[in-house]
Amino acid sequence: MPPPVRRRPLAAACLAFGLALAVTGAAAAANGGFTPPAPRSENAERINDAYYFVLAFTAGVFVLVEASLIAFVVRFRGRGRGREVEGPQLRGNTSLELAWTVAPVLILAAIAGFVFYKLPGIKDVPSAQAADRLEVRVEGRLFYWRFVYPNGAVTIDRLYAPAGRVVELEVTSPANDVIHSWWVPALGGKIDTIPGQTNRTWFRAAKEGVYKGRCAEFCGIQHSAMLAAVEVMSPEEFDRWLAEQSMDRQALGKQEYEGVCAKCHGFEGEGGIGPPIAGNPLLSDPAGLEQLLREGRGAMPPVGTGWSDGQIEALVEYMERKIAGGG
Ligand code: CUA
Repeated sequence: MPPPVRRRPLAAACLAFGLALAVTGAAAAANGGFTPPAPRSENAERINDAYYFVLAFTAGVFVLVEASLIAFVVRFRGRGRGREVEGPQLRGNTSLELAWTVAPVLILAAIAGFVFYKLPGIKDVPSAQAADRLEVRVEGRLFYWRFVYPNGAVTIDRLYAPAGRVVELEVTSPANDVIHSWWVPALGGKIDTIPGQTNRTWFRAAKEGVYKGRCAEFCGIQHSAMLAAVEVMSPEEFDRWLAEQSMDRQALGKQEYEGVCAKCHGFEGEGGIGPPIAGNPLLSDPAGLEQLLREGRGAMPPVGTGWSDGQIEALVEYMERKIAGGG
């Protein structure tokens, strides 16, 4: 009689296989699963194609390997043979060995070929008439996103864009900052923000909507707070918004306070990292506050490097309103 312990590996393998099958549906569901979200820009679509092309091969290899594993476990089981007795010894099978050498080479060549075929459509910014393109500077900062539009308007953490137009992103971060990574999965791949260098990426959002993103490079204590959103509007709505935005100091001050200051400080210290803002003597010293923002101090990064005077004033005005009980 074979000791009962022998049945356990078989049972475990069957159980694991069953579990894997049971969770396949959940894993493939885009939201909260392991597959990318539905693409909303051509470059994201091509990344998605590459993902599923590779997945098809890996799924095939997985099923083949696991099925043969289980088949071998069953076929070559002990059948009452004593534990000390060796099983049948099999050696060499030229056609099998050729097959498992050649097949992977062909698979890798197919994957490489497909990816290189898709790559230009992912990387290269498509040509478009000036009226159908928009250039935005994307700065990754400790610990927020700063977007600068062609007319000088600035937004924090939320990028506004027109549907159907090519949006070219100049992705960078200031020389005294660190590397972050811009990533809005539905609108394309990741791209690093490298201090003092400019990387380029793009998207052309097919539909209006809000697309979520985040910093994808561990950059420090508030990395997880570097959430981003891209709000895509109709082109007419966007043009109107952009014209108004360059004059809207109140909206800018609020975004700066919430995206740049409050994450670490909080009004009453809710940020848990920096000291509370309420009651800080710098609030009544705009010049001192500006210096702190632009140059940083101790553990505080120079969050205001590169800000226009208007940006600094918008923040100071917002804080004054907030202290006075408004905001
Ligand atoms: Cu910025 Cu992580």
